[in-house]
Amino acid sequence: MLDEMEIRKKLIDFEARFGRSGKIDVYYAPGRVNLIGEHTDYNGGLVLPFAIQQGTYLLIRPSDLPPARLYSDELGLEARVMTPDITKKNDWADYVRGVYMYASEVVCGEIPPFDAMYFGDLPLDSGLSSSASLEMATALGLGSLDCRLSKEDAVKVCRRAENDFVGVACGVMDQFTVAFAKERHAILLDCDTLDYRQVPYNLKDTVLVVGHTGVRRSLTDSDYNKRRRECAEALSLLSAKIEAKRNLSQLTIKEFEGARWSIPDTLALRAEHVIYENVRVEEAARCLETGDPETLGYLLNRSHESLRDLFEVSSFELDTLQEISASQPGVWGCRMTGAGFGGCVIALVKEDALERYLGRVPGLYWKSTHCDAGFVVTTPGEGASMLEIL
Ligand code: GLA
Repeated sequence: MLDEMEIRKKLIDFEARFGRSGKIDVYYAPGRVNLIGEHTDYNGGLVLPFAIQQGTYLLIRPSDLPPARLYSDELGLEARVMTPDITKKNDWADYVRGVYMYASEVVCGEIPPFDAMYFGDLPLDSGLSSSASLEMATALGLGSLDCRLSKEDAVKVCRRAENDFVGVACGVMDQFTVAFAKERHAILLDCDTLDYRQVPYNLKDTVLVVGHTGVRRSLTDSDYNKRRRECAEALSLLSAKIEAKRNLSQLTIKEFEGARWSIPDTLALRAEHVIYENVRVEEAARCLETGDPETLGYLLNRSHESLRDLFEVSSFELDTLQEISASQPGVWGCRMTGAGFGGCVIALVKEDALERYLGRVPGLYWKSTHCDAGFVVTTPGEGASMLEIL
């Protein structure tokens, strides 16, 4: 998180840009890592994510006349939202436009225009949910415009903004985590029912390192939506063979193995990943709670292999960083996190092996890929909220 001094400086920048008038409110929404349970959310499965210590900040103040004016300090880009007739512009501000539009349509009615400035310390397009973080900061920020959303409604509005406005058919994991995360816990979420449990993060003498491959990825032009379609197709073929199921996660391993021969190979591999990944998530939650990094590390490695070989959403750089990491002394396990196609890995590392890990891995990775990797150690942080800056 940024310290208060940095946020105060941004308040000065805000006034320099938009002028001095009423009170400016400050909101924060974190990014997240997913410990395990990848590409299961839109298949009604289990996930085990937590919020990280980096995120998106929003400074917001109502204004008198449309258009709403936005500024992203990180991108150095301005944007506008023409209220109340909102149209997509294919730029970063579409996430904001989508949230504004659905919040007003579904919950709040007409919302006044506003001035807003976004900044933060979360790398973009890295599989750390920068988009959900931007959406959630916006959704909570609408509270300063007389549009107060419950966290449940905020999750729905943000997801709809991403699915229907931006056009990425993401599941519910990111928005849910960013809203409901709790310090020192991971969330075990059933994405079919939205039942969840805060699982205590009890790993001792072990740190979680987020390693960025240096390769950005964008879900709007990745195969993400294609994977969703493949899963839907696998579900409908398997349902026809066995019995109607709401989603792939409802199939038991036995049912799946008995019927996999009846569907095309590629679809069977996609379904296999989802069905077995759910089992790994349940075991991982137990490891987290009982403090068993060794088994957890084993599960991370298996999950990575499955995403690489069965679901095929990894990349050369992710595989290289995973392999180098997992083979270092004192590393329990490592896997890609998030959608894949670039972005980050997470590595579970013994505390006393961390220095050696950070000393060796960047060089080895560069030798193989000629990319610069970046590393940060993270612990589970709090979900989105309004901040009191005095
Ligand atoms: C992205 C999506 C999530 C989820 C992951 C893969 O982060 O936004 O909903 O599908 O990919 O697990």
